[in-house]
Amino acid sequence: MTIDKEQKISMPYKLLFVCLGNICRSPSAENIMNHLIEQAGLSASILCDSAGTSSYHIGSPPDRRMSAAAARKLGIKLRGRGRQFQKSDFQDFDLILAMDQENYQNILTLDQTKQYQHKVHLMCEFCSRHTLKEVPDPYYGGEEGFNQVLDLLIDACEGLLTKVMSDALSLPKGYEL
Ligand code: 4NP
Repeated sequence: MTIDKEQKISMPYKLLFVCLGNICRSPSAENIMNHLIEQAGLSASILCDSAGTSSYHIGSPPDRRMSAAAARKLGIKLRGRGRQFQKSDFQDFDLILAMDQENYQNILTLDQTKQYQHKVHLMCEFCSRHTLKEVPDPYYGGEEGFNQVLDLLIDACEGLLTKVMSDALSLPKGYEL
């Protein structure tokens, strides 16, 4: 797509994906999104990170079962280490994508002044082929749950990339995608 040079921005657009543990769903979303961003040639303009609402897996690599499914199904290696969502993330990111309602509510609760609520969305809002409203927690289930997570995330990430690219057209001067 062509973006009017007058509307270019210099700061990258920053996306944060959030689940409970930051070892299954949100690192998958982060890595799938990075894959799509690279394919679109937008790596310098859109930055991704992920976090968990819990402290359970701080410093841990992505779950082995999730990594195996991402490698087998998508050929994507999951990179990153678990970290916990922190209040400064509200300022540091442009969009915060929650995997399920519980994550969504827990994030909103941390925004005590309610000035960042507009940045927080459910990931499935961006799906066009799936009707599920949440990305289900696969942690205590079988292989099929991990595959379902990937199916939903591919759909959502494609929609999200389209949204970010179209929003760039209405960004104030000084912004660049
Ligand atoms: P995630 O999955 O939120 O998609 O990373 C989970 C990982 C760990 C746990 C629950 C969900 N846990 O209970 O340790």
